[in-house]
Amino acid sequence: MTGQLPVKWDRILLKIGGESLAGKGSYGISSSQVRIIAEEISEIRDMGVGIGVMVGGGNIFRGGRASREGMDRTTADYMGMLATILNALALQDVLERIGVFTRVQTAIEMQEIAEPYIRRKALRHLEKSRVVIFAGGTGNPYFTTDTAAALRALEIEADVILKATKVEGIYSSDPFKNKKAEKFDEISYVEALNRRLKVMDATAISLCMDNNLPIIVFNIQKRGNIKRIVLGKKVGTIVRG
Ligand code: GTP
Repeated sequence: MTGQLPVKWDRILLKIGGESLAGKGSYGISSSQVRIIAEEISEIRDMGVGIGVMVGGGNIFRGGRASREGMDRTTADYMGMLATILNALALQDVLERIGVFTRVQTAIEMQEIAEPYIRRKALRHLEKSRVVIFAGGTGNPYFTTDTAAALRALEIEADVILKATKVEGIYSSDPFKNKKAEKFDEISYVEALNRRLKVMDATAISLCMDNNLPIIVFNIQKRGNIKRIVLGKKVGTIVRG
């Protein structure tokens, strides 16, 4: 541990969508991409930051899309939850290979594979500087992994949610479709809700709003961004009251 640089956020919940683990292709797990993220996590862990990670599963299975195509919604959501568990194990493996102690906790019990989600255990792991990777969303259909991230962030008393994306933050319109889209440095929860942003669903934003938990939406593909945020630098868009 260096412990020299003052950090702005002592405990964070990092939400990583499955696409961020897929690297350039949009399907599957890219070990080099997972490694880049793991190294960034390792760096802030060494700065003394407590880290919970919520992983999505969109690189393996998209529950929302499958249900729109006719699959039973509950089945599709459970398949999506299982996909997050594959990602969690991949991230755990890479983190441990670079010397970061981790625990995976699943919202759906599968004790041969990982420990079940137990809040008090998660807190204990964080106290011991372990990175806790939460998998399986909330364990319930109809809830996204963003909502699960908000829920776990509140439960572990995180100071902020860092929502990793492929864009710099929240824009006035889709930056991939509109070159003139403007990026916000800060936006209120209410405005985020009114704009029906694709970047985070309303349930997740509402949960954060009701509990005054800030969300920082940022580009994870830019190396060093997580560290910059932890040090209090202006990166991405902050959503708060
Ligand atoms: P402390 O005792 O607080 O330091 O935590 P610990 O996680 O080291 O203790 P524990 O004895 O609970 O776990 C030892 C190892 O077993 C860890 O690698 C855990 O991730 C793993 N483990 C604990 N519970 C389960 C479980 O229900 N299923 C699986 N598969 N592994 C578990």
